[in-house]
Amino acid sequence: AASKKEILDKKNAEAALGGGEKRIAAQHAKGKLTARERIEVLVDKGSFEEIGKFVMHRSRDFGLDKEHYLGDGVVTGYGQINGRLTYIYAQDFTVFGGSLSETHAEKIIRIMDLAMKNGAPVVGLNDSGGARIQEGVLSLAGYADIFYKNTLASGVVPQISAVMGPCAGGAVYSPAITDFILMVENTSYMFVTGPNVVKTVTHEDVTSEELGGAMTHATKSGVTHFVSPNEVECLLVIKKLLSYIPQNCEDDAPRLSYQETNETRPVLSNIIPESPNQPYDIREVISEIADSDSFFEVHTHFAENIVVGFARLAGRSIGIVANQPAVLAGVLDINASQKAARFVRFCDCFNIPLLVLEDVPGFLPGTDQEWNGIITNGAKLLYAFCEATVPRITVITRKAYGGAYDVMNSKHIGADMNFAWPTAEIAVMGASGAAEIIFKKEIAEAEDPAAKLQEKVEEYTRKFANPFRAAHRGYVDEVIYPEQTREKLIRAFAMLENKVATLPKKKHGNIPL
Ligand code: COA
Repeated sequence: AASKKEILDKKNAEAALGGGEKRIAAQHAKGKLTARERIEVLVDKGSFEEIGKFVMHRSRDFGLDKEHYLGDGVVTGYGQINGRLTYIYAQDFTVFGGSLSETHAEKIIRIMDLAMKNGAPVVGLNDSGGARIQEGVLSLAGYADIFYKNTLASGVVPQISAVMGPCAGGAVYSPAITDFILMVENTSYMFVTGPNVVKTVTHEDVTSEELGGAMTHATKSGVTHFVSPNEVECLLVIKKLLSYIPQNCEDDAPRLSYQETNETRPVLSNIIPESPNQPYDIREVISEIADSDSFFEVHTHFAENIVVGFARLAGRSIGIVANQPAVLAGVLDINASQKAARFVRFCDCFNIPLLVLEDVPGFLPGTDQEWNGIITNGAKLLYAFCEATVPRITVITRKAYGGAYDVMNSKHIGADMNFAWPTAEIAVMGASGAAEIIFKKEIAEAEDPAAKLQEKVEEYTRKFANPFRAAHRGYVDEVIYPEQTREKLIRAFAMLENKVATLPKKKHGNIPL
């Protein structure tokens, strides 16, 4: 008879094989790694400890009583990533297509509970055919239990969801509630209803990739924050992302040691073009301000008129929100407002100081924007900034026009420090638009209306297309030379390091959703 040790060896080997060699080969043939292989790439070598390895489903229907796999289609546990504790679950597509059963859900909930009690992030690697069809409502209940737990954990510990295969139907809502979604090109897709149902209901012919592939969600819907060309890249992005964020809401953002050197950045003085209507790439400004190569962009392909991401400044993590004059002149529209608002709220949840780089000509006009609710959506960003209690600093590089000036982390809505470059223009609108409105009569009655307009534009420009009016009022704390920006920010963030700010006591606010 087999010894106790042999029995255990056998069970361990069986669990390691998931749905068996044939299905592992099929997984590889699709260009996908198995759940366990993914975890190995993700964690520090040898650090993964599995929990619930021998868990099996309890189902009796449709022949399932005769089909059991140890682990029941999800590998759960904890390990170290960049030397820090992280909880992980990885769905195993080789077992019932990674479909979610009652016990599969229980395993996920178990590590989420541990993560919340012990204050560490949860990373979910999703690859699943959805609800375990044979289990019916038990499986739906399992999903709901996860959604509920995701919501309770939101703002307590960071939650990251990689979608590395199918994620359809109700399954999409767990990633949707978590803080960040990552997808892999060509092998992952997310949709509420698949191409067949779409065809029946709306008569549209669409492939899975078009309907809910990585690039679709990166560019059109904004559902995913990151896209990677393959699974290994995707897992490395998770590691990098975690390196900027704290373990939980009571932890400080991570900080690398930093040796101070000359912080002057002369390049910054030559970035703003001569003409105020000429574009430039705000990423150039960011890369000069941040520690070298530290900028890590989030949501790169969505609403490119605003740039958001993490960076390090003298070793400490910060979140950056920057208007992008190179795309749509950097206007705020619905998508840009949503993108930035969500990022601001993430940073505020997890004590990551915020830097705003402002060059904004206003909100995007038009029926499309108005009818789709730029009012409500723009208000999201406004609300998110108003509510944020982390250290908040703004640098106005050029335009700060109209209501968008107020929204973009102005002093009035709680920014701690507001800097402006000499090229800043802080006004209700651009000079030509302003002159046309306020001097309409004078210009019309002038002998030479064009010359009159020009004269009035110049007058308005002299008065308002500068940062000094705002600085006289103290709305701008200092007008700085661009090359000093990095040094000023390092000092100001250090000054704000122990900031304590609390909001009025309430159940929770009512952000315009
Ligand atoms: N419940 C139970 N088993 C499932 C399942 C589910 N939801 N989804 C897939 N499986 C099983 C399949 O029966 C198959 O089992 P086998 O290895 O014993 O043959 C295995 O998982 C792999 O599925 P398969 O269909 O061969 O893989 P695929 O890569 O060709 O297709 C899907 C993947 C997800 C597109 C396809 O499996 C599918 O459409 N599944 C159902 C999705 C669904 O409607 N879910 C319920 C609503 S949320």
